[in-house]
Parts: sequence; structure tokens; C-alpha cells
Amino acid sequence: TSDIRSKLPLVGQKMLVTAGPTYEAIDPVRFIGNHSSGKMGFAIADRLAELGADVTLVAGPTAQKSKQQVTRVDVTSAADMLAACLQHFEDADACIMSAAVADYTPAQVATQKIKKQDAGLNIELKKTTDILKTLGARKRDGQVLVGFALETNDEEDNAIKKLQSKNLDFIVLNSLNDSGAGFQTDTNKITIIDSDLQKTVFDLKTKEDVARDICDKLMQLINA
Ligand code: CTP
Ligand code: CA
Repeated sequence: TSDIRSKLPLVGQKMLVTAGPTYEAIDPVRFIGNHSSGKMGFAIADRLAELGADVTLVAGPTAQKSKQQVTRVDVTSAADMLAACLQHFEDADACIMSAAVADYTPAQVATQKIKKQDAGLNIELKKTTDILKTLGARKRDGQVLVGFALETNDEEDNAIKKLQSKNLDFIVLNSLNDSGAGFQTDTNKITIIDSDLQKTVFDLKTKEDVARDICDKLMQLINA
């Protein structure tokens, strides 16, 4: 089987994938986070491994399990995810950042559980570091960087802004307006926009099939 494996298209390629949400602690029992099952990112990591790549999957809190052999790095917060990504980015030939990273985190984390009071509660939030943008600024020649965009309106304009400001090779646009696409579903409907602003609209598919389409696009860029 090692002989068969050596003929796979992504043998020798190191891939970094992020998946799932991040949890930002408010106190020891509470957090702020986004909806994300992690399914899309795990499907991408599995597909890359199936194609022979050496895959590192940085995963936020999720119930998913990998079906293929991938190196999993479990993280909780956006800050942890950034640190793990920075550690693996240098070596990576390509990165696909599908995680639903929290944009804000509590400015202070209470060391003890915040007790409820009659008055309301205000929690001060500060911005997290944009992981994808940080990697985009460090990208070297030949490295391929892929991001996602989750939009509810002005989808393509917003996705193109993200593609350009984060220095991506292509962006996978997920529209929450498409039925069957979303957080807890097994299906997804995507549009890929590349750095030449070439746009490909895909049908509603299982997340496994969407992962195939994304990896096919990645392989075209790697071989180009
Ligand atoms: N992303 C990231 N680090 C963050 C926020 C987002 O790496 N702190 C990445 C996501 O993994 C995704 C891409 O950036 O690949 C776009 O995420 P999205 O939430 O759609 O865009 P934002 O740039 O965060 O903008 P906004 O939420 O305001 O639309
Ligand atoms: Ca965001």
C-alpha cells in the first residue's frame, strides 16, 4: 500500500486546516462563540489526507472525528488557534482556514463564576486577531492560502473584499441565504472566487462533495 500511496497527488505536501468554532471564556463556566459544527473543515482535512497530503488540523471545540489519518491539534480560544496556526504555517504548502473564529473576546476573564444580580450585565469585548489576515501577511511565494466567507448580504462584494484584504488565493463563499447551507447541516452550497476574480458557483452538495470541489481547486493552483 505504501507504493499506491506514493502515487497519490498530494504526497509530500503539508497542509494546515482549521475547523470548528472558538470559545472565548467569560468566566470558568461561560463562553462566547459562533455556531459551527466543524463538519466542513473535518471533511476538507479528510479529503486532503485521502489525496496523500500530510495534514495538520487545528480544531476548536467540536464533536467531529477524522476518518483519515490527520494530525489533530485541539484548541479552545481564538488566541490558542492563532498560536497553533503560527506554529505550523511556516512548514505548510497550503492552508485552508474554515474555522468560525470568534471576532470578539471578553476584555477580562473572571476567575470566579459571575453571580447573577438584579441589574443587567455588561461584558466588555475586545477584538481577536484575524488569523487568516496574519497568515496572509506572512505568505511566501508558492504557498497557497484559502479562506471562507460567511455572508448574509452583499455576499460577493464582501467575499472579494476579504479575498483581497487577507491576501488569499481563493475564497469559499457560504451564503446563509441558501437553504441547505449552514452550521448544523450535512450539505453546503458554495461559490469559489479566486484572485483573478474568476467565480465558480456550485450546486447544493454534501459537505464531503464540497470538500472534493475545494481540494480540486487547490490542486489546480498547486500544479499551476
Ligand atoms: N478568520 C480568522 N480569524 C478571525 C476571524 C476570521 O482566521 N479572527 C477567518 C475565518 O476562518 C474565515 C475568514 O477569516 O476563513 C472569514 O471569516 P468571516 O467571519 O466570514 O469574516 P471576517 O473577516 O471575520 O469579517 P465579518 O465577520 O465582519 O464578516
Ligand atoms: Ca467573523
